[in-house]
Amino acid sequence: MKGIILAGGAGSRLYPLTQVMTKQLQPIYDKPMIYYPLSLLMMTGIKEVLIITTPHDQPHFKSLLGDGSRFGISLHYETQAEPKGIAQAYTIGEKFLDGEDSMMILGDNLFHGNFQCFRNAVEKQKKKEGGVKAHIFAYPVKDPERYGVVEFEKKTGRVISIEEKPENPKSHFAIPGLYILDGSAAERVKNQKPSKRGELEITDLNQTYLDEGALNVEVISRGMAWLDTGTPQSFLEANSYIGALEQRQGYKVACLEEIALRMGFIDSKQFSKIIEETPNSPYRDYLGIILKEHGK
Ligand code: DAU
Repeated sequence: MKGIILAGGAGSRLYPLTQVMTKQLQPIYDKPMIYYPLSLLMMTGIKEVLIITTPHDQPHFKSLLGDGSRFGISLHYETQAEPKGIAQAYTIGEKFLDGEDSMMILGDNLFHGNFQCFRNAVEKQKKKEGGVKAHIFAYPVKDPERYGVVEFEKKTGRVISIEEKPENPKSHFAIPGLYILDGSAAERVKNQKPSKRGELEITDLNQTYLDEGALNVEVISRGMAWLDTGTPQSFLEANSYIGALEQRQGYKVACLEEIALRMGFIDSKQFSKIIEETPNSPYRDYLGIILKEHGK
């Protein structure tokens, strides 16, 4: 299973914050936003990731994350010239994917909680039982009209419909920006037409799997936090949430070096070397604490 982070887009809802610096590199408390979606991919065991950005922002992402070796993973980069839709990520990433299954996360989607549900979905995807070729998720929200929305049949839990930003949502279950699709995704996008707003919609792509009875929608429990970063207010709330959690626990959320160590992507020796190379900072002090806790 390969990973994709789609981190392009105009970020116009956050203008002028995004005039110079793209949204996905802006701080969420003490780390750039992209650390959070990348941490999710790493924690589900994905070690090969493609990062898609605007041409203008690509050098910044490269200088932040490099080739991924610091985190024991392999990072690749592609650009999206214009924000022509989320589904376009699959044709941009076609060569990288090389027909493999993938887990794609939008670079501005933040999750916090027990990621076992994502690991389970990856395992299910590998088995393809009952002809299921794609897994997406559903999460209860109070403003579903801002998202893709999934409607379930009450008795059986069967998926009846998925709709992109419906005026009259048929449920309060939003579809987060996290998609596990099989290797046919790129081919499907090639047959897709842009929507009225001129975008290759991810919901239209998912619809092709639903039409074949090949789509599974997993409801994420309320215990998981799915944070929004769409507006200055939700941005502030995401920062406060992560800040409050880190202050309380003394652990960092989405510390990529720590995750690499705990996942066994790097060993203690490599981790010690990273500490040596890290500028003197509270972040470096934290890495020192983690190394001690982990045992050398
Ligand atoms: O966050 C989950 C939602 O994401 C889903 O529920 C919706 O079904 C899905 O369409 C999407 O809705 P948004 O309104 O959040 O999409 P937006 O256009 O804001 O794009 C989401 C992120 O993806 C954004 O940070 C920029 C990036 N993006 C978007 C497009 C359209 C790209 O990198 N390239 C693109 O072409």
